[in-house]
Amino acid sequence: MIILVGGEKGGSGKSCLAQNIAVFLTAECGASIIMVDCDPQRTTSDWIQARNNNPELASINCVQLYGKIRNDLLSLEQHYDFVIVDCGGQDNLALRATMSVASHVLMPLRPKRRDLKTVSHMDDIVATCMMINPKMRASFVITQCPSLPNQANRIFEAKDVCRTYDINVLDAITYSRNIYDDSEESGLSVIEIEPTGKAAAEMRGIACEMLEAQNATEIRNRLATTKINKMRGDYGSGRSQEKLYAV
Ligand SMILES: Nc1ncnc2c1ncn2[C@@H]1O[C@H](COP(=O)(O)OP(=O)(O)OP(=O)(O)O)[C@@H](O)[C@H]1O
Ligand SMILES: [Mg+2]
Repeated sequence: MIILVGGEKGGSGKSCLAQNIAVFLTAECGASIIMVDCDPQRTTSDWIQARNNNPELASINCVQLYGKIRNDLLSLEQHYDFVIVDCGGQDNLALRATMSVASHVLMPLRPKRRDLKTVSHMDDIVATCMMINPKMRASFVITQCPSLPNQANRIFEAKDVCRTYDINVLDAITYSRNIYDDSEESGLSVIEIEPTGKAAAEMRGIACEMLEAQNATEIRNRLATTKINKMRGDYGSGRSQEKLYAV
């Protein structure tokens, strides 16, 4: 399964989300993951390098790919449960190539006017890519929300703006929390720093809602079923009628 975390707005939390979702799927769902960093700033590659220098953390693979990456992604998908692509903050070839094969696209936006102004163009890109990849499920997610109650309206308004387009908007959001910034420095995720914390719950909520699962156990079970079906391959999909009657 190919998951793209992308969008046109710089700093909206794409890399942060991609990294935390990768840890959630690896550590809590037992999935095999590869991250693909398409951003010349190398944010995710640097985070992976810091992470893989720490032997206590579950290591995650990462490759850098640019440009027409459709075929590379399809071949990586054969070897991993999830290919998580961090596309940086522009509309470029890698973003569109990924959208041509991704099953899920997550587009973070802060509840701010400049972020919301990019929604219309993202909607155009998604609509174009869905002509060749109609099964792609694209969602906006509102990030770095203010936690002050008198600013809650900003979050509702941001969701309302997104809902005027034909793209799903996740119920789950992230609030602005220092733990996101603090965790990145040493290649960690918020789930590892504070597993029972609010940020960890936000990341689980976003990943599960995106994958339309109740919790990590459901994702784990789905992966197990997929593996069994893959192993059976061409050898048939179940017991033959004779065997069933014989028992
Ligand atoms: N929910 C949050 N609360 C507080 N800080 C956050 C949150 N999410 C992300 N950040 C911080 O915002 C900064 C930008 O995040 P990130 O690098 O993930 O953005 P990006 O969309 O990948 O940016 P770019 O477009 O440059 O690739 C980072 O310092 C990150 O720690
Ligand atoms: Mg980034």
